[in-house]
Amino acid sequence: MNSGILDFIDEDLTGLKKSGLFRRLSLIEGPQEPRVKINGEDVILLCSNNYLGLANHPKIKEAAVRAIEKYGFGSGASRLVSGTMEPHKELEHRLAKFKGTEAALVFNSGYHANIGIISALVGRGDVIFSDKLNHASIIDGCLLSKAELKRYPHKDINSLEALLKKHAARSTQHATLIVTDGVFSMDGDIAPLKELSELAEKYNCMFMADDAHATGVLGINGRGALEHFDIENSNIIQMGTLGKALGSFGAYAAGSRKLIDYLINKARPFIYTTSLPPAVCAASIAAIDIVENEPHLRRNLWDRIAYFRAGLQEAGIDTMKSETQIIPILVRDADRAVKLSRNLLEKGVFVQAIRPPTVPESASRMRVTLMANHSWDDLKYALGVIKELAK
Ligand SMILES: Cc1ncc(COP(=O)(O)O)c(C=O)c1O
Repeated sequence: MNSGILDFIDEDLTGLKKSGLFRRLSLIEGPQEPRVKINGEDVILLCSNNYLGLANHPKIKEAAVRAIEKYGFGSGASRLVSGTMEPHKELEHRLAKFKGTEAALVFNSGYHANIGIISALVGRGDVIFSDKLNHASIIDGCLLSKAELKRYPHKDINSLEALLKKHAARSTQHATLIVTDGVFSMDGDIAPLKELSELAEKYNCMFMADDAHATGVLGINGRGALEHFDIENSNIIQMGTLGKALGSFGAYAAGSRKLIDYLINKARPFIYTTSLPPAVCAASIAAIDIVENEPHLRRNLWDRIAYFRAGLQEAGIDTMKSETQIIPILVRDADRAVKLSRNLLEKGVFVQAIRPPTVPESASRMRVTLMANHSWDDLKYALGVIKELAK
């Protein structure tokens, strides 16, 4: 092998460093809590998706430990071979009930779910209409499917309809799919699901909504974005994750029985991977119990969202169109965002800088995320520090 065969890596890494886009891992010492330790220092965590504060919840830990005692740790095989155990089936049953669908299917992560669902439903010759700000896992699912990808401007129903009309005039032969984040992961705004689902009906498209950041957070019962808009439509393909507000790990598809049977047979990222450890499923079941029985957690989160967003906006800080627990602070320049993140950390506030390719060029930002159990004192302090440094 030529000794210079990997030299491109040095060049690429140097390029990333020069443009302020090189990424490093931050080590969290101890459990995920509103305050964590980094380099031995106690800091306020403002960039976790552990929205309801469940990741270190005693009931969830207990459920996992009990499941380990009963089932051991590993699942030993993929779901279709011998890796379907009682907690997998029970979790799917609970998810279907929680989402109000006929059936549900557990995937190993949201990334697996998105690439699996999309590549199962559409293929070469088909067309996908995808919001421009959809999550990377949706985009990767679209690319994997080999379907034609048409990206419509963010939440722009009129532009989407124009694209759909043009497509309908050209062809009715192929399958079409409209896909959107429910809550946009980097902007924190909510997709117009009612209008999108109506367009899907009108133009005879499949419609898929990603509830990764809405599950446990949106809707009176925390069931997600469809509940938030009061939409009942059994044709909608719902995907969501268990590793964010639910404090566990994994993801799900929820919909009709035939959709789930189809995914079991066709979704390669479901088929060709070892299934989740049963204890992870048991932890997710305990998390659903908490979401269903402890609505005050959701109320606590929404109180904190209102306080923090208003505080930033009153100080003239650009929080973009955020409507949820994800509150971006627009900085634009990647280097400046990294510096701001460093300065905040020095003052005991941990917020990650988000840069391209995760967000568009010149749209680098701090992505603040709130948790139901952040203390008011910590939020007040963090708000003060951000106001001081982000101006
Ligand atoms: C909108 C959206 N979908 C899917 C995912 C992937 O989920 P997971 O982290 O479970 O792989 C994420 C993760 O951040 C996300 O933000």
